[in-house]
Amino acid sequence: MPDNSPEPQAVCNPISRSAIFIVATISRHAGKADVVRSWSGDVAALVRAVGTRAPTANLSCVCGFGADAWDLLFGAPRPASLHPFREVGSGDRRAIATPGDILLHIRADHMDLCFELASQMLNKLGDAVTVVDEVHGFRYFDLRDMVGFVDGTENPTGKHTAGYTIIGEEDQAFAGGSYVIVQKYLHDLDAWNGLTVEQQELIIGREKLSDVELDDSIKPSCSHSSLTTIEENGQEVKILRHNMAFGRPGAKEFGTYFIGYARTPKPIEQMLENMFVGRPPGNYDRLLDYSRAVTGGLFFVPSVDLLDELPDRNPDAANDDPQTPGSSGALNIGSLKGTPRHE
Ligand code: HEM
Repeated sequence: MPDNSPEPQAVCNPISRSAIFIVATISRHAGKADVVRSWSGDVAALVRAVGTRAPTANLSCVCGFGADAWDLLFGAPRPASLHPFREVGSGDRRAIATPGDILLHIRADHMDLCFELASQMLNKLGDAVTVVDEVHGFRYFDLRDMVGFVDGTENPTGKHTAGYTIIGEEDQAFAGGSYVIVQKYLHDLDAWNGLTVEQQELIIGREKLSDVELDDSIKPSCSHSSLTTIEENGQEVKILRHNMAFGRPGAKEFGTYFIGYARTPKPIEQMLENMFVGRPPGNYDRLLDYSRAVTGGLFFVPSVDLLDELPDRNPDAANDDPQTPGSSGALNIGSLKGTPRHE
């Protein structure tokens, strides 16, 4: 039976050996938005061009747009839950928002493929964008992050993954899409390694070597795994994380790039609140005594189908459709015609 639902980008692909994360801003000079709009229709072809040369290397790219970029490039309607990254916390423990219009999450089993695709993508974008952050991540031993713990264990698996990450009927014009939050964390590794393994395990909530979850009788309510376990209406809500280690030992830079996908930004925002402010307030994530978020961004990831159609979209379409109050009614893409604007 044919399935007409829009195809998601490679959000749910398994974790790879290598990744490049690129965050870029779009030039506000005349004509540059047109370059980016037209590029969005080339993304799939670029991935094919590079990936076909190494068919077993699992090259993929997920491309997302920030809230301001969406308005600039594509206008209304806007994905229902797309908004700028919301800062939480205060003082030294703060999830900061940093500039970012486009996110590229490029993955493969070999870094050369990630590198080639990133180069091709940026080459096409030219001076229409400025790269404000670029991180080359690697798989650290048995899927460990930079603090030495296995990362990703409690990710959703199999058929449940799409249910947690891919937009469905709740926002039909954007079905097949997803939301992604990224944060680049730098660790004070000397201080972290000054802790005993037992102290680190209480902070994460799992055993370091075996990755087994600590028993509830000893796991603190402020452990990372406790604070990031959340429920809605009695049901656990999961997100999909593809974190990667990165760093430059010579510069004493040791980091974990956090990337979390979800069907709405809400669960990730709730987890951030629990980590940075605490649940209850004050009962915060002690991992943050050793880790500092230096970037923060929220992006909408269109489906493959929508990404392909976006170049035809006119952000300045006249607001002349009486059926869609407050929206730019005259959209250029059939599937979105007349869809009400979401805030
Ligand atoms: C310094 C950055 C971070 C590091 C080093 C880190 C590390 C870890 C580790 C080692 C685990 C346990 C294994 C696993 O289930 O994956 C974990 C679990 C988890 N983390 Fe993080 N994490 C970081 C940031 C975040 C952020 C910012 C979020 C969400 C906003 C988050 C959400 C989660 C979730 C949902 C789990 C699974 C909890 C469970 O069900 O037990 N993490 N993280």
